[in-house]
Amino acid sequence: MKPTMKTLHQILVLPAFALLLAACSQPQAEITIDVAQHGADIPSSMYGIFFEEINHAGDGGLYAELVQNRGFEDTSVPEGYRVKDGKLYPPANSCNHLTCAKPHPDMCYRWPTEEIPAWSLTQLEGEGASMKLTTEYPLNSATPTALKVTLPAEGRVAIGNTGFWGMNIEEGKDYYLRLYTSNGKRFDGKAVIRLVGEDGQELCNCPLAIDMAKAWSEYTGHLTATGSDSRAHLVIELEGKGTLLLDYVSLFPFETFRNRANGLRKDIAETLEAMRPAFVRWPGGCVVEGITLSNRIKWKETIGDPVTRPGVYDTWGYRTTMGFGYHEFLQFCEDIGAGGMFVCNVGLGCQGRVGDACKEDEVDSFIEDVLDAIDYALGDGTTEWSRKRVENGHPAPFPLKYVEIGNENWGPVYEKRYDKFYKAIKEKYPQLKLISTLGLGGQHRHERVDMIDPHWYVSPEFFFASDKLFDQQERGDYEIYIGEYAVNQNVGGGNLLGALAEAAFLTGVERNSDLVKMASYAPLFENVNDRVWPTNLIWFDSYRVMGRSSYQVQKMYAENRPSFNVATSFEQPVIPVGVKGQIAVGGWNTDNEYKDLKVTLADGRTVEADMSQGWTPQEGTWNAEGGTLKGSGPGVMRWNLWSVPEAFGDCSISLKARKIAGAEGFLIYFGMHDGKNGYILNIGGWGNQTTAFQRINGNDMPQIPNNISQYVEEGRWYDIRIDIKDGKFTYSLDGKQMLETAIENIQRYVVSGYDENTGELIVKFVNATKEPFSTSVNLQNVTSVKRKGKVVTLTSADPKDENTLDDPKRVFPRESTFNKFSGQFDYTFEPWSFTVLRIKAEI
Ligand code: AHR
Repeated sequence: MKPTMKTLHQILVLPAFALLLAACSQPQAEITIDVAQHGADIPSSMYGIFFEEINHAGDGGLYAELVQNRGFEDTSVPEGYRVKDGKLYPPANSCNHLTCAKPHPDMCYRWPTEEIPAWSLTQLEGEGASMKLTTEYPLNSATPTALKVTLPAEGRVAIGNTGFWGMNIEEGKDYYLRLYTSNGKRFDGKAVIRLVGEDGQELCNCPLAIDMAKAWSEYTGHLTATGSDSRAHLVIELEGKGTLLLDYVSLFPFETFRNRANGLRKDIAETLEAMRPAFVRWPGGCVVEGITLSNRIKWKETIGDPVTRPGVYDTWGYRTTMGFGYHEFLQFCEDIGAGGMFVCNVGLGCQGRVGDACKEDEVDSFIEDVLDAIDYALGDGTTEWSRKRVENGHPAPFPLKYVEIGNENWGPVYEKRYDKFYKAIKEKYPQLKLISTLGLGGQHRHERVDMIDPHWYVSPEFFFASDKLFDQQERGDYEIYIGEYAVNQNVGGGNLLGALAEAAFLTGVERNSDLVKMASYAPLFENVNDRVWPTNLIWFDSYRVMGRSSYQVQKMYAENRPSFNVATSFEQPVIPVGVKGQIAVGGWNTDNEYKDLKVTLADGRTVEADMSQGWTPQEGTWNAEGGTLKGSGPGVMRWNLWSVPEAFGDCSISLKARKIAGAEGFLIYFGMHDGKNGYILNIGGWGNQTTAFQRINGNDMPQIPNNISQYVEEGRWYDIRIDIKDGKFTYSLDGKQMLETAIENIQRYVVSGYDENTGELIVKFVNATKEPFSTSVNLQNVTSVKRKGKVVTLTSADPKDENTLDDPKRVFPRESTFNKFSGQFDYTFEPWSFTVLRIKAEI
């Protein structure tokens, strides 16, 4: 049995003069790695990816189709929705199953501005030609809309398609065309398909002999490009007279990832493959749930011939073809050696949007649906759905390993449904790992749980402060999968600082691999022409693809995954953070009252607040009555600053608070300075579920790690106390200590492990400061160390630096050799860097 690892985080606070003496060249710190103290194995499942159709991740991205709006369905209005003033509105009568609220009248989604998106008609000869959408003669019931082109008199027209912000056509490469026509209205003439460059130059063509029949005819063609253009477009040129219906106009490069039909764009798929993902989560994300249940992803509509797939207007504001459907996702997993993770719907629409729920007696049909999905992937080919997999060209089962029961669902309805899904799936497929969408602490809210799935979209500060988050989580009969995480606040479209914060967070993930078994960054993709989410991992346009600095961090972690952790202690100078400022009280979407506010200073003096005067309301309506101060709406935020001249440093704050009505609990602000900067104790925040300290910098309010579950009752007076001392905050309620947290100003992090396959000790180090950082490294219990070893460094001059499609290697890992590894060596880490040291060591 392996000895267990002690998690060591000793911090040496050096006096200021010692810091001055410790000039850059001298090690200021010490890392001690004891290879005899093994930590948990780091499972091969650890680093994976999460695909969701957002930012044109699939259509116009990974999915190699070049024609946009190929089936003319992009403006099909989802059932029950309506389009008004260029926006899409969900059904007004659906209601949220948690709050019973109907959608706010302003809740709306973007809608195409063009009548027939991506298509145009140019009259080349003659006049009067027109095109319009029609459902008069559907190609099939799933995709009823077609394009009707009419030439009333002899003439010539070009029906153009822009592709997804241009088509990348390359000289000498082959393209596969497929389209359907119906000639009920007797179009008499010629047709030719052309691929044309942005400057109008023809890159290839293929004639089309139009069938005279009304019945839909399929054409397939093969085009070889004689020129290149990354912003090319497709033209269907019609010459003659009459009316023709067109549908499913599709163009694929012959060359796709693994050369599969209906395949994936090679460069993008290879960028994913290079991450060595252990698993792929699909299809979402919010798209699993839909704005309302009705427009959720239905996997059964994503398999089979793409001509018959209806597609869906998805949560992210455009219609997707679902060409990269369930089968293609499983095939991709198989192709790259990843485990599949299917996320199913539990009969709940997205709770952050409309949040409608199916009736309880309909839940079984959703359970059936996920069991069918599993059968499709794993069945032996004789069962109903696995037979369809065989018909679709894949006799052997696919590597489906995980099922997530819902996406970002919570609340009593979800908890109950989860238990039902869990039992039904486990009974038939005990080998699958089943994941609950509840976050930290959620393991207690189910009868049985394999994994929980917390998500974090945060500021760099939050992740820098969260490297010990998992050290502090309880262990038990559950594991953690971090299904979505990213720094996406205060980093623009993403930058090196954000990537370093993710690298720092991952030191804690990897060190706690006894509990955290899997993680996937989100979102994965962005077509740079349509960013609907602030920060995404991999960017592309029609012909280029680039991994942001965060991508490089992901890749470095996956490429340098040790077999097991080894005990690592890190002693480094710390500059303690002082807290100084004013106090305020408030509420988020909640009416509260406060009284008896008293501050006890470090020297024992006390300062009592007069609740009826000396307050400066910041947001919300505030009234003082009978010794209490009451805050209410109409806005969501409400807070009121106690305008004492004194800025409070270390002190104890005590006060009484009572909730009158609303969504959450209490907000107590302290250390407030320069406007909206300081700290908050948020009691019963996050939907009246959680209590945590937060930093506040303007509108950025990252949670400071450590939180507890807490629900605030209405009408009850709570006795609250906050002790602030040396950057440590302690929260007590009714005389009982509830939560303690510390703010530190260390931005250097380390984790290390041993790779049994290569015999190397792997040390990962983040230096998120502007100074180089010298440290001595002591290796304990190694029998021999090779002097020469590999170093990989990711850095750039400015933490705001980032890669772009024009400058894809600005923040790029640099490999070098270090010749001075030994049982004790000094190393200087570069400013703003993430470094991996690979040290050949016998243990
Ligand atoms: O990754 C983007 C979205 O963030 C996902 O769809 C959802 O699960 C989360 O809210």
